[in-house]
Amino acid sequence: MQEKMTAQNLRELFANTRMPAMAAPMFLVSSPELVIASSRAGIVGTYAAPNARNIGALDEALSLISTGVSQSGAAPWALNMIVHSSYDRFDAELELVLRYQPKIVTTALGSPRRVLEHVHCYGGFVMADVATPAMARKAVDAGVDGLILVCAGAGGHTGTYHPFSFVDEVRQFWRGPIGLAGAISVGAHIRAAQQIGADFAVLGTRFIAAEESMVQPAYRDMLVESSMEDLVASKAVSGVLANWLRPTLDRAGLSATQLSEEKKIDFSGDISTAPKAWRDVWSAGHGVGAVTAIEPVSAIVDRLAQEYANSLASEREAIKRLSDQLESWQAGSASVGCGEGVTQ
Ligand SMILES: Cc1cc2nc3c(=O)[nH]c(=O)nc-3n(C[C@H](O)[C@H](O)[C@H](O)COP(=O)(O)O)c2cc1C
Repeated sequence: MQEKMTAQNLRELFANTRMPAMAAPMFLVSSPELVIASSRAGIVGTYAAPNARNIGALDEALSLISTGVSQSGAAPWALNMIVHSSYDRFDAELELVLRYQPKIVTTALGSPRRVLEHVHCYGGFVMADVATPAMARKAVDAGVDGLILVCAGAGGHTGTYHPFSFVDEVRQFWRGPIGLAGAISVGAHIRAAQQIGADFAVLGTRFIAAEESMVQPAYRDMLVESSMEDLVASKAVSGVLANWLRPTLDRAGLSATQLSEEKKIDFSGDISTAPKAWRDVWSAGHGVGAVTAIEPVSAIVDRLAQEYANSLASEREAIKRLSDQLESWQAGSASVGCGEGVTQ
């Protein structure tokens, strides 16, 4: 059983948050404004490094975020990096990580080993996105500080495992921090993530239609209009299994046969302009039905916080009711004599 980052470290990380939640990094969705608004609203905001079209733009984005978030009371911000071997910008991005020192670096599509030492040097934490217990084990062996379990129903590159069993299996070898991602859409889900053994929730789809995201208006409208039945899971678009909005697949002329095909993963070249995936073919997770309006991040987070508080209040009531029930049952059973009440 391994535990690297302590519960105390985790508490420090989520100090100044209103609830244990993180706005997920989303390619061509998360703008610096979305990250700043998330942290100011009281959850951890995460920027996806490839959203900046070049290293100069990433420098500007990180400068904007670190200044925008530095106000007292804001939650920390995180940076998401692609660590896949084909990703050309990795070394240049790492230099910026060392300059801006995000408290949390999350890694996607590869081993977190490449960044660990560097981030630890300035006191940051590394969390790896993983979609299977085997990936989780590898990340733990590499020395990661926390895991983000990407489960079935997630937007973007999705997992396929149910969160109940996925958390349980990972908890057999990892006691450290776990974030849960996939279809988490309302405050009750954030609490549910904690109840099944995770420490915090990671929400992506819930924020795509936020006013501060960098998507075009038609994408926001489609989110508001769509439900989970409008999604298709396929590896054909980006090379990795992802959930896509069906109307955008139809528009791109992708046939059912093409959608069942696989494609080689390749992040080389300018990934912010090259692929049709993400720019023309849009993604969302199973929680899309919970997006019913275009709102600022602050309104979304306010509602999540209220729902989270309501969940805690219902739990307290349920515990009280159950303990009263237990007490009266114990009192009743104590007064029943041996053999009484048994029908022959
Ligand atoms: C449009 C879109 C783009 C995404 N891009 C990235 C990305 O660049 N890096 C990454 O680690 N995760 C990415 N994700 C996955 C999210 O970080 C997160 O795991 C997921 O959104 C959680 O599931 P949910 O959307 O159901 O809340 C993306 C998700 C979406 C919806």
